[in-house]
Amino acid sequence: MTGEHPASEADHLESWTTAPLLEDRVAIVTGAARGIGLEIATVFARHGANVLIVDLAEPDAQAAAASIGSAGGVAEGIGADVSNEDDVDRVIQTCQERFGSIDVVVNNAGIIRDATMRKMTLEDFRAVLDVNLTGTWLMTKAAGAVMRAQRSGAIVNMSSISGKVGLVGQTNYSAAKAGIVGLTKASAKELAPHQVRVNAIQPGLILTPMTENMRDDIREAKLKEIPLGRIGRPSEVAAVALFLASPLSSYVTATVTEVTGGRYA
Ligand SMILES: NC(=O)c1ccc[n+]([C@@H]2O[C@H](COP(=O)([O-])OP(=O)(O)OC[C@H]3O[C@@H](n4cnc5c(N)ncnc54)[C@H](O)[C@@H]3O)[C@@H](O)[C@H]2O)c1
Repeated sequence: MTGEHPASEADHLESWTTAPLLEDRVAIVTGAARGIGLEIATVFARHGANVLIVDLAEPDAQAAAASIGSAGGVAEGIGADVSNEDDVDRVIQTCQERFGSIDVVVNNAGIIRDATMRKMTLEDFRAVLDVNLTGTWLMTKAAGAVMRAQRSGAIVNMSSISGKVGLVGQTNYSAAKAGIVGLTKASAKELAPHQVRVNAIQPGLILTPMTENMRDDIREAKLKEIPLGRIGRPSEVAAVALFLASPLSSYVTATVTEVTGGRYA
């Protein structure tokens, strides 16, 4: 595949620990019918978590859950729009009914609607803010209340390097992903006295359905900016999500981890 080294450390991601890091934990992963979210849900299930997969279309969420189930994991799928408060409340309630608690939430659902400001419509601006930022806030608020009461929990929010540096054509997305950093730090401080941790990840260029149709010349230009010289894999983001969701990061909160191959560091 373009830009990937044939062999890399990424090939060994699954063998660096044999201990299940999320044994019997309950995890909600949003936007997990495909891409980075599906990889996170799959890795969490492999590490012993019961996973609730949230995505817009229920059949897609259920198909993803079935793929995890056929590999020996425990997962269920639910259709919900993370920017809709009633949907979010239904997700939280369903998770508690099916699995009994909520230990981990990964706010991964996201969309892009790229255009320069000259062409971007208010509708495109609001849609990207709604899903990425408001969706993350709604889930953090609702799951945070449950975790606060149980005095434990870990929330992982998917920002983007676009929220750190600002990218042309992404005034909506950069604003939303920068907003997620502020939301992460503020909610981490509110929830820390209740033993709930909140952290964010800023991926760089990762090969998923969101990015695979990029024009070749744009992809080549981006590759030149990446010190490690290759596009990232969803599994390389999932590894960091696993760390932030697990007891390995018990003293880590209010942080932002860049998973970018060194780009824009
Ligand atoms: N791929 C990258 O290079 C990259 C880089 C930085 C950050 N990210 C972020 O990582 C996350 C996952 O990206 P991806 O590349 O896997 O994207 P993707 O488009 O492949 O998958 C996103 C998933 O989110 C779902 N979704 C969209 N709106 C939703 C909503 N309102 N409610 C519930 N689900 C919804 C989609 O149906 C889809 O299944 C996103 O937050 C994205 O912004 C991706």
